[in-house]
Amino acid sequence: MIEPRQEAQSLPETSETLDPQNWDELRAQGHRMLDDMIDYIATIRERPVWQPIPDAVRAQFRERLPRKSTDLADVYRDFTDFVVPYATGNVHPGFMGWVHGGGSAVGMLAEMLAAGLNANLGGRDHMPIEVERQIVAWTRQMFGFPESASGIFVTGTSMANLMAVLVARTSALGKPSRQHGIGEEGASLTAYTSKAAHGCISKAMEIAGLGSDALRCVAVDRAHRMDVAALRARIARDRAAGLDPFLVVASAGTVDIGAIDDLEAIAALCREEQLWFHVDGAFGALAVLSPDLAPRLAGIEGADSIALDFHKWGQVPYDAGFLLVREGERHRDAFAAPAAYLRRETRGLAAGSHWPCDYGPDLSRGFRALKTWFTLKTFGTDRLGAVIARCCALASHLESRILAEPRLELLAPVGLNIVCFRYRSEDADRVNGEIVVSLQESGIAAPSTTILDGKLAIRAAIVNHRTDVCDIERLMSAVLEFGARRSMAADGEGRRIALSRSAAV
Ligand SMILES: Cc1ncc(COP(=O)(O)O)c(C=O)c1O
Repeated sequence: MIEPRQEAQSLPETSETLDPQNWDELRAQGHRMLDDMIDYIATIRERPVWQPIPDAVRAQFRERLPRKSTDLADVYRDFTDFVVPYATGNVHPGFMGWVHGGGSAVGMLAEMLAAGLNANLGGRDHMPIEVERQIVAWTRQMFGFPESASGIFVTGTSMANLMAVLVARTSALGKPSRQHGIGEEGASLTAYTSKAAHGCISKAMEIAGLGSDALRCVAVDRAHRMDVAALRARIARDRAAGLDPFLVVASAGTVDIGAIDDLEAIAALCREEQLWFHVDGAFGALAVLSPDLAPRLAGIEGADSIALDFHKWGQVPYDAGFLLVREGERHRDAFAAPAAYLRRETRGLAAGSHWPCDYGPDLSRGFRALKTWFTLKTFGTDRLGAVIARCCALASHLESRILAEPRLELLAPVGLNIVCFRYRSEDADRVNGEIVVSLQESGIAAPSTTILDGKLAIRAAIVNHRTDVCDIERLMSAVLEFGARRSMAADGEGRRIALSRSAAV
């Protein structure tokens, strides 16, 4: 029994709440912040895409732990002076690096509302969970999945792919493997993807305890699509060697060039071989929203699971990754875990099972669903699909400009929204690497690089709804200008080296 205290402890007189003393001041400050961020997005074209961070600015963020309070207006000034000008740049229409979505002002407002509600979406019975369930239902509809399908927001597709590997692993080894580990049976599991797959698949195999050696990276054709005959042959070879194929990961939009695997053929093979069929659709899966592009994803409706990012082509602000699993029960088998402190009830706040924490490793989770709900509902999927189709049309435009320009070389077919090319030069890898850095530092455009068939490529991934023909033209002329400068410099240097070598001889 707990003994009552002899004397009541005296409470400090001052209130320690973090709420402001003057709400009107906070409101005025909040309005300024909101206006500034709306202006920032509205006038984004007037700024450089990206700019290097000066040392003095970086140093601002090497301060000691702040023990005392600072005025909100001063903290905000630090943000506007030191953070805003040196952001990644993906809000800007000239950003074409990696695969970054542009976000939207609507998503930003929704994110503010979500922060105000401060909801924890691990579980319990509240409307924010119903908002997430609404997105699960909408995502099911997008991909023609059954009512029994489950879904969950996660950070990004890397996490969604990892979780899919875990669901497939538990499905293959049975639920008891969660207690006793993967054992010998797990050691013989093998998974399959293509050489063009994203590196997070291999990482997922490592984290899942299966090892990246157990991932077979099957050859691709010239268009970077998985060679299904080679896949079939590799599965047969592994079975003959006493191994246990359990999972195929197909790509709906490869990271390098945006290739879409033959999902129908892979779905059929997985059915025949009784393998888990997972689709990494990080950006490409949302192409289903475009009636023109959707046929290219035929077969995706037969997947056991799909990973995708609403923060890429869905234009939802970061982060909003998503995992959809055909059979909700299998999904729960991999993650649901009873705990006394998470007891479910039929009434009250602990009602409404199953909870999102039954579908993934996270218990505390933010309200990613709200910005996605606002985005889907405000714009509608037809408009988002049109944005996606337009990104692909811009990529085709860039492709035709490159093909018509003898100084440039197209390095891969353009299947979707990614264009890989380079400036022709004797020292092409170095010259093109420098062109990309110069482009980024100039603030004109921000493509990234990749290596295709051993050649360094300038890679432009058009994901942002703000990108327009003028941005493609600016990229083109800047590449040509920097290319001419860099290759002249490289030729000059080459001549200097040759001269100094001949002088040394
Ligand atoms: C095909 C593919 N898979 C997975 C990922 C990883 O997604 P995320 O960055 O959301 O973790 C990406 C990222 O661009 C991708 O393009």
